Amino acid sequence: MLENLKRRRRAVILAHNYQLPEVQDLADFVGDSLEMAFRAVDLDADVIVVAGVRFMAELVAAINPDRIVLHPEPSSGCPLADSVNVGLVSDFRSRFKGVPIVVYVNSPIEVKAAADYFVTSSSILRLVSKLNVESVVFGPDRNLADYISEKLNVNVIPLSPESHCPVHEYLLDEYYVLEALKLHPNAKLLVHPEVPRSVRKLAHFVGSTSGMIRAIGDLEGDEFLLGTEEGLTHRARKLYEGKHIFPVNYRAICVDMKKITPRKIIHCLENLKFKVTLDREIISKAREVIFSSLELLE
Ligand code: 13P
Ligand code: SF4
Repeated sequence: MLENLKRRRRAVILAHNYQLPEVQDLADFVGDSLEMAFRAVDLDADVIVVAGVRFMAELVAAINPDRIVLHPEPSSGCPLADSVNVGLVSDFRSRFKGVPIVVYVNSPIEVKAAADYFVTSSSILRLVSKLNVESVVFGPDRNLADYISEKLNVNVIPLSPESHCPVHEYLLDEYYVLEALKLHPNAKLLVHPEVPRSVRKLAHFVGSTSGMIRAIGDLEGDEFLLGTEEGLTHRARKLYEGKHIFPVNYRAICVDMKKITPRKIIHCLENLKFKVTLDREIISKAREVIFSSLELLE
């Protein structure tokens, strides 16, 4: 049924690494937030269904402005992304004149459009070091702001000092990691940089969700603990059948990610419902920030 519907609509389905296993299994592509947006560019399709949270659907729409982009559950947001707005960026721009404003992929598209640079968890350190500046404004995630301060000789002015991901900050803190390491003392620990510094210090690898997937292939050993949302374990186990892969915490669940179900995907495709519509000017400004940031990394 879904295959027929996809053919009729000339549609593809993109899923984030944290989606429910059944959603990952029906998708044409599974990846991290940046990969999803750019993978769609090469796919021959008129309609793109984004199984991810709202900022991911917006990013796909901004990178693929001539396609219809559907978000099967419009209430699937990200509390971290939604903790910042354009007013805050303008305020920081006038308070810290000349200091570059760098925003994390987990932010609304309007905030990306108002910033100077855009980063993901895999590009953050490379981009900030390329800027060659004494200070940067960075937001919204406070653990990523701390990651820059820890690794680079840069003064980080947090855009939103309280912003964090509740899954990574509370359900993947040192307590859960040490408990998991007691159960799997020989495992390699891979973590997302949204976790607190005390957890990053224990890790063998720090990176984006797809970076963690690649690291399982690159690191020695056959036992791995994933310090991120539990959905990544499904993809990792499928790709590396012979390896023993466990989430640090089975209850590290992003409720917003899990709001998207196969039935909702079918419903939005059948009815072409829940289109992501963005202002043309916002798309054009956000694209400028995104593409110039990616060029800087080349
Ligand atoms: P990635 O960009 O690594 O896919 O992560 C997005 C996210 O929401 C992490 O919590
Ligand atoms: Fe947002 Fe955290 Fe969910 Fe990622 S895991 S989408 S940062 S709430």
